[in-house]
Amino acid sequence: MHTQVVIVGAGPAGLLLGQLLTRHGIDNVIIERRGPDHVLARIRAGVLEQGTVALLHEAGVGQRLAEEGLAHDGFSIAFEGRQHRVDLKGLTGKQVTVYGQTEVTQDLMEARRAAGTTSFYEAEDVQLHDFDGASPRVSFTYEGKRRRVACDFIAGCDGFHGACRASVPAGAIETFERVYPFGWLGLLTDRPPASHELVYASSAFGFALCSMRSPTRSRYYVQVPRDESAEAWSDERFFAELRRRLPDEVAAAVTPGPSLEKSVAPLRSFVAEPLRFGRLFLAGDAGHIVPPTGAKGLNLAASDVHYLFEGLREHYAERSDAGLDAYSARALARVWKAVRFSWSMTNLLHLFPEASPFDQRIRRAEFDYLVQSQAALASVAENYVGLPY
Ligand code: APR
Ligand code: PHB
Repeated sequence: MHTQVVIVGAGPAGLLLGQLLTRHGIDNVIIERRGPDHVLARIRAGVLEQGTVALLHEAGVGQRLAEEGLAHDGFSIAFEGRQHRVDLKGLTGKQVTVYGQTEVTQDLMEARRAAGTTSFYEAEDVQLHDFDGASPRVSFTYEGKRRRVACDFIAGCDGFHGACRASVPAGAIETFERVYPFGWLGLLTDRPPASHELVYASSAFGFALCSMRSPTRSRYYVQVPRDESAEAWSDERFFAELRRRLPDEVAAAVTPGPSLEKSVAPLRSFVAEPLRFGRLFLAGDAGHIVPPTGAKGLNLAASDVHYLFEGLREHYAERSDAGLDAYSARALARVWKAVRFSWSMTNLLHLFPEASPFDQRIRRAEFDYLVQSQAALASVAENYVGLPY
């Protein structure tokens, strides 16, 4: 089999790239390790930057997002019970849209199915061949048979644990990593959110986040030790711990409910350089990971896909490789700024086990400065709504 672009991974990055390529007549095939239901069952982030929303509309999957997405003009940060609203709209003229990654993935999967574009789900033992030459290929086992797809380019959209970055010779790639000494225990429940906007709370007991998926579905997180298991947390224990970390008026507005999902996500910052190896391009979590404190993971996958799609479109439509040659540097420039923002928000809001009394005073001073400085608030706001592509 031959196609123009093989996409490895059917998460948001792979599906969005596939949809953009298909709409521009560029043949592509997606090869995904898991089944569709498994991909959809993963509960992930839920805040979209305006650039991501625009890209989803460009991909032809903005309908439900426009109908069901919740436009937010701000969010709140709380520190030791003191709450302060970050006025995104007032400070940047922009807003963010709350719409779950599961919904984004669902919309993209349906669009791909409607377009009749080829996807191989439950593909095993995916291997990349000759991507540093002129005729790359991807082989995999599908329905018990070994398959091989020849292509012009491979898009590695297979996430942090995928095969694509792992296929790059160690000497050709450099990685940068910060592993945090804690994780986030997340809970999903069909109860109205505690607040109409997101609340990121830092307390002496640790970090907590109040988010949502709709006016009737809440998403909550509490910081837990890195190796914590979700099974150690009953719903009752979760809500008690959540409430004691929130400002009083927010805690009082939390409506506990049965958990639809409960899981622990480890926090890490990770960047691979470069993001291109011959005819292999890494996009999304395959190339970088951010702690969810800045809601950047899905949005960085979107900006990577924007840059990569533009490069591929130019290659086929204008016979120019300028966009592909610039991809890695352009994507990394935006990635590192988002990694910085996510790292800074994580440091500001979390209780680090080994923090000294000095560290604690610095964190409090950081918050006190932030809430009294329009310049500091504007800086947080412009990073949160998303820096320009
Ligand atoms: N072969 C084929 N597919 C693979 C392989 C492999 N060897 N390894 C992983 N995959 C698939 C995974 O099953 C997953 O469906 O690649 C997909 C990668 O999707 P994501 O991990 O969601 O990454 P990405 O599409 O870049 O989206 C980033 O997802 O994890 C969140 O927080 C992250 O919001 C961010 C977003
Ligand atoms: C979520 O709703 O899952 C969410 C929102 C904002 C974040 C992280 C997660 O920063």
